[in-house]
Amino acid sequence: MGFKVAIVGATGNVGREMLNILAERDFPADEVVALASSRSLNTEVSFGDRILKVKNLDNYDFSGTDICLMSAGGAVSLKYSPKIAQQGCVVIDNSSAYRYESDVPLIVPEVNPDAISGFTKRNIIANPNCSTAQLVVALKPLHDYAKIKRVVISTYQSVSGAGKDGMDELFNQTRAVFVADPIESKKFTKRIAFNVIPHIDTFMEDGYTKEEWKVLAETKKILDPSIRVTCTAVRVPVFIGHSESVNIEFEREITADEARDILREAPGCLVIDKHENGGYMTPYECAGEDATYISRIREDATVENGLNIWVVSDNLRKGAALNAIQIAELLVNRGLIKAAKAA
Ligand code: A2P
Repeated sequence: MGFKVAIVGATGNVGREMLNILAERDFPADEVVALASSRSLNTEVSFGDRILKVKNLDNYDFSGTDICLMSAGGAVSLKYSPKIAQQGCVVIDNSSAYRYESDVPLIVPEVNPDAISGFTKRNIIANPNCSTAQLVVALKPLHDYAKIKRVVISTYQSVSGAGKDGMDELFNQTRAVFVADPIESKKFTKRIAFNVIPHIDTFMEDGYTKEEWKVLAETKKILDPSIRVTCTAVRVPVFIGHSESVNIEFEREITADEARDILREAPGCLVIDKHENGGYMTPYECAGEDATYISRIREDATVENGLNIWVVSDNLRKGAALNAIQIAELLVNRGLIKAAKAA
């Protein structure tokens, strides 16, 4: 007997990718339900070679549904995730609404799978921010080898991280530049076409943005609270794929060659690091791929035990949909969840 899985936000960037990945990985689902707002009622989304009609979240009864993959933004999660969880359905929540609560596990399966057992307190498991997911996949094996003291990250984040409206805005502005139409900015605070914007999410009192704070808080929660982390998060005119320039300071010595060998063996990582033209990964090439790609591995001679690396991944996949489905697979493979119908 398989599971009944609901996807909330099934018409969005991440929701559609969740449907693709569930089908690709043959997740043991007997039934998959696509949910979105009343605006999308009866629109169609693809699930493998099938078409699903979208249902309205507002009047959907979750009793009998085993797993809900929630990706409709923080406000929808705050309103619905606890109600869904109370109906006995495990919520894997892609928003930031529950990530920092001590009784909600925040999971990247390659990094902290054992923390998942804590989900029974609230029946909610949080999926990390897209920038954090790929970062910790690359940091974990290096941390295990040489213990990370401090990390400095600059992100280059694609517009798909801001949802389908973000992708439309980049497309429309780019077109407008070529045909000399006026440029409209609604989703982003400044023009994104042929530009970069050092501002993602809201500003905090200390001058950092919420996106930058999320990378810091989540890396500590998932990997190790003793690591010092600082971040600058930047939106770039790329449709899919987040890139990160990462400077790492370790407690023990680690050479670039050692780091390369460790990352080659690490789960979820793929090293592409040739010192020649094109011998590195770019976001355009990672779209549709599952791996976290690591390139440009170099020693940083300005600090003791320092390395620089370049990390690239599909933000809609490892940064969101894939990680959520890996969490669902972890629940199933560890026998932490039984199909409601079978019970
Ligand atoms: P809808 O298409 O009906 O608005 P993205 O992040 O790519 O913009 O996608 C957001 C997803 O969240 C969409 O599927 C959207 O559905 C869904 N969504 C937004 N608000 C709600 C809501 N109030 N109830 C249910 N789903 C929502």
